Amino acid sequence: MTEYRTGQGWDVHRIAPGRPLLLGGVRISAEFGFEGHSDADVLAHAITDAILGALALGDIGMHFPDSDPKWKDAGSLLFLKHALTLAAKHDFRPVNIDSTVILERPKLKDYRLAIRQSLAETLDLPLDRISVKFKTAEKVGPVGEGRSAEAQAVVLLRRDSA
Ligand code: C5P
Ligand code: MG
Repeated sequence: MTEYRTGQGWDVHRIAPGRPLLLGGVRISAEFGFEGHSDADVLAHAITDAILGALALGDIGMHFPDSDPKWKDAGSLLFLKHALTLAAKHDFRPVNIDSTVILERPKLKDYRLAIRQSLAETLDLPLDRISVKFKTAEKVGPVGEGRSAEAQAVVLLRRDSA
């Protein structure tokens, strides 16, 4: 029997000067980055929450509390790997991931392959199972005004049993 679970994740981070801009573990060249306790990788956080959601295991803040100095400036791919380990403990593995990053600028499309490759490596998935889309917010609202960035992700997990 094969069992499927779907999960959804969303995250937002404030934009601030002098911070790194990381998406899916890839450093993006920009004169600003994302504020946050960890490395503030908004895409990695959304995907981590999607995996935790599929497992009904709470959310990223529960597993990596930002009050815990252990996670200060932690690489967010670590969070993602941890969520994957939790999935594996329940015999689940990802089938595919779809995601969207909403950021007004800079243009991200030239980073798409690098981000997909980074996530594919982290999640041990073939490239064609990882989708990363980009959208502006059409200059409207906090994202459109360049004050924040958001990411959304959905994941499908599967478990095969005899
Ligand atoms: O948001 P909008 O529909 O105008 O985006 C148009 C295109 O620009 C999309 O295909 C998207 O891949 C790309 N884009 C980008 N970097 C962003 C936002 C959008 O490359 N920060
Ligand atoms: Mg976050």
